[in-house]
Amino acid sequence: MEKLKNTPLDADTVAHLIQQSNLADLCQASIRELVKLVNQIEKATGQKFIRMEMGVPGLEPLEVGIEAEIKALRSGVASKYPMIEGVDVLKTELQRFVKLFLNIEVGEIGCLPTVGSMQGAFAAFLVANRSDHHKEGTLFLDPGFPVQKQQCKVLGHGYQAFDLYEYRGAEKLKAKLESILDEGKTSSILYSNPNNPSWICLTEDELKVIGEVATKYDAIVIEDLAYFGMDFRKDYSVPGEPPYQPSVAHYTDNYILLISSSKVFSYAGQRIGGMVISDYLFNRRYPDLKRYYKTDGFGYSMIYGALYALSSGVAHSVQYGLAAMLKAVNDGTAPLVAPVKEYGERAKIMKTLFIKYGFRIVYDMDEDQPVADGFYFTVSYPGMHSKELLERLMYYGISAISLVITGSKRVDGLRACVSQFSRDMAPMLEERLKAFQKDHPLNAIVL
Ligand SMILES: Cc1ncc(COP(=O)(O)O)c(C=O)c1O
Repeated sequence: MEKLKNTPLDADTVAHLIQQSNLADLCQASIRELVKLVNQIEKATGQKFIRMEMGVPGLEPLEVGIEAEIKALRSGVASKYPMIEGVDVLKTELQRFVKLFLNIEVGEIGCLPTVGSMQGAFAAFLVANRSDHHKEGTLFLDPGFPVQKQQCKVLGHGYQAFDLYEYRGAEKLKAKLESILDEGKTSSILYSNPNNPSWICLTEDELKVIGEVATKYDAIVIEDLAYFGMDFRKDYSVPGEPPYQPSVAHYTDNYILLISSSKVFSYAGQRIGGMVISDYLFNRRYPDLKRYYKTDGFGYSMIYGALYALSSGVAHSVQYGLAAMLKAVNDGTAPLVAPVKEYGERAKIMKTLFIKYGFRIVYDMDEDQPVADGFYFTVSYPGMHSKELLERLMYYGISAISLVITGSKRVDGLRACVSQFSRDMAPMLEERLKAFQKDHPLNAIVL
């Protein structure tokens, strides 16, 4: 890369810190590694970035959650171990939540708290991927959240992946899924919907295919609903009324749902989520589980095998906090989606500016309609690999992550998260993008 001069951030300082970071290839850097590097550049230059590398929610959480946590603490829960399967009030509200917002019925027994969806996925791998010794691990419908593959790696589980974008539509998706599941190695299938990072949303037809294929090949679907209800093109926020957040749960009994409180309730700091296991799967017996757990029961192994071994449950007070927030949205006394619609507005502003200065949206279409504005969007700059783009943008005080680490085939693309942007930053973003385009004129790039 030739040397940049007169960039908005002091070029020598940025170059020095990038070099010192030992991140030889920025497009392979993890989100947290990039966070560290950007912190260092901000500190050394005294200049603030337009930070798009990490999804830090940061909107105000519901007051009822905080109050319920305080009340629980004052009532003395801190000194007592919580039950691993969760406090009753949370189990009840989780069960109501999935009935009211997904239109699915499950027993309270399968509604469990986890330390964020992060732990939910880890525990799901620990049980689902050990249920049949002929199988090897997880099929990821990419692009995806990189840490989940890291979880499989640290567990020693195998995984496969393909870029969903190339197989949109029920027919293509079915053929692709069957070609992989036919090998007989897939214990579980994981995807997020809406998708981090591309923000594409699977349709009912596609979910039906995933469910049917999972049933046919006896694989367990781990549906990651980290961005519950956040396809703002539809209104999934009225309790008990359609449209409901789409879910594979309508098309197979082999499912585990991961419901995060981090984004939709802006509760990321408290590290709590819900895992919902279908009644069928909860009660199912897999003799091979006995290799690792005391029983062959799926649900029992999840609670008294995996979740026990991981953290002996979830912090007591925060379970009351989440229960109170769920109760409020279930009762219709607090809005589920309205507060986070702000992310869609930010995305609109940011995407417009990126496009104005020559960038392109990488994952731009959701089947036949433009991808929704939401928590993430993806960009590229003509003629540049994401490694170069990511590095060059640092000199202009703009940070993101490369799509390379998400399993995307689009190695030119970056994922941009809108959560740390506020509307008053628009002039600064525009100024920086303008400077970037001026220094990298499109007519000079060989396409
Ligand atoms: C797709 C996806 N799954 C899971 C998570 C983690 O959620 P939690 O904060 O509940 O652990 C994230 C967070 O960014 C995510 O994007």
